[in-house]
Amino acid sequence: MTGAGHTTIRSMPTRSENIQGTLSAAVAVLPGDGIGPEVIEHTLETLREMELGLDFDVLDQVSAHRYLRTGEAITDAEIDRIRACSAVLLGAVGDPVVRNPDYARGVLLRLRAEFDLYVNYRPVRLLHDRLSPLRDPRHRSIDLAVVRENTEGLYAGVGGGLRARTSQEVAVDTEITTAYGVRRVLDFAFSSARRRVCLVDKANAVPFGGALWQRLWHEAQARYPHITVSHEYVDAAAMKLVADPTYFEVIVTNNSYGDILSDLTAQLAGGLGAAGSANLNPETGFSLYEPVHGSAPDIAGKGVANPIGALLSAGLMLERLHRGGAARALAQAVRSVVGDGICTPDLGGTCSTREVAEGVRARLLWG
Ligand code: NAD
Ligand code: IPM
Ligand code: MN
Repeated sequence: MTGAGHTTIRSMPTRSENIQGTLSAAVAVLPGDGIGPEVIEHTLETLREMELGLDFDVLDQVSAHRYLRTGEAITDAEIDRIRACSAVLLGAVGDPVVRNPDYARGVLLRLRAEFDLYVNYRPVRLLHDRLSPLRDPRHRSIDLAVVRENTEGLYAGVGGGLRARTSQEVAVDTEITTAYGVRRVLDFAFSSARRRVCLVDKANAVPFGGALWQRLWHEAQARYPHITVSHEYVDAAAMKLVADPTYFEVIVTNNSYGDILSDLTAQLAGGLGAAGSANLNPETGFSLYEPVHGSAPDIAGKGVANPIGALLSAGLMLERLHRGGAARALAQAVRSVVGDGICTPDLGGTCSTREVAEGVRARLLWG
């Protein structure tokens, strides 16, 4: 992570240089549901104004309402359109009208699986001192990243049931841990860290997957002797994140603990609405960017959704698409609006989504 650019993915390893050197790149955009379209509208407006040579293919038909009508989460033709792009920008999927988990699984988890986006990179950096829920100023220099394994664990969809709709009903979700999956995400975590990596697991209670993570963790340390390591069980990690988040730099963990801890770290650094994320495959270079938050049905349609999480996700995308100057300018503009108190209610302000996004655009000094 470099100076002004808190959207920078620290020395992100990649073997794919296919985008480098080309001027234009296509981005598939899935606004999704709830506040997704609201924050994506302003993010697109910002990216268009920056004239970055990006083309956008907007797939706004992918929504919970279409799923209700047709039973389709995302079609194969839509997957092909996405495949033709260099990256995906997604708002959020999910709506109270759809209770069936097949919808979120059919869109977001399918994209993660289909494009083998095995790293979910969720950086947080405190945007302004006043936003920290931690009173002690020594504990405020929060600048960490959760590296979440993104393709297996409890999310693999392996399981089943017995004796459906009887009083003896059984449901099983199997946690999948593969050596291949763990080794590659550990390598990403180590190579993206400057100094410290912490493994978070529950190896004291989850014996088989826990032991595999532990063994590969020890093997990985030998490949990165300059990195200081620590290990925490997930319950203690949650406590330590609140007690002193400055203790952490890169946290590497499985799919479900990464999901939970990244909402916690987002709130520590100012708010869930202000956290961005990248779903990455460093080998193929294909990637999907989305705010950490969901579709927030409780505030959808009110014009008050915080657009910062989506904007910082777009910043991570710009970094990846070799537009690092633009990414740093965007990050700086975001810090500047927050510094000036131009914030939505979740960050203690009174501004609308549009006012925050316009404030960011007005502060974009670059190029
Ligand atoms: P959520 O993240 O949508 O909302 C949690 C709380 O944070 C709510 O009170 C909400 O108002 C607030 N919040 C979230 N984003 C905000 C923003 N940008 N500005 C201001 N406040 C914001 O989580 P949830 O309520 O558990 O889930 C709602 C739906 O979103 C569910 O269907 C869930 O499955 C889905 N979801 C989708 C994604 C995704 O697509 N990446 C991520 C998380 C949840
Ligand atoms: C996230 C979301 C998703 C997840 C849901 C919507 C399936 O919470 O991206 O963090 O759990 O991965
Ligand atoms: Mn989540």
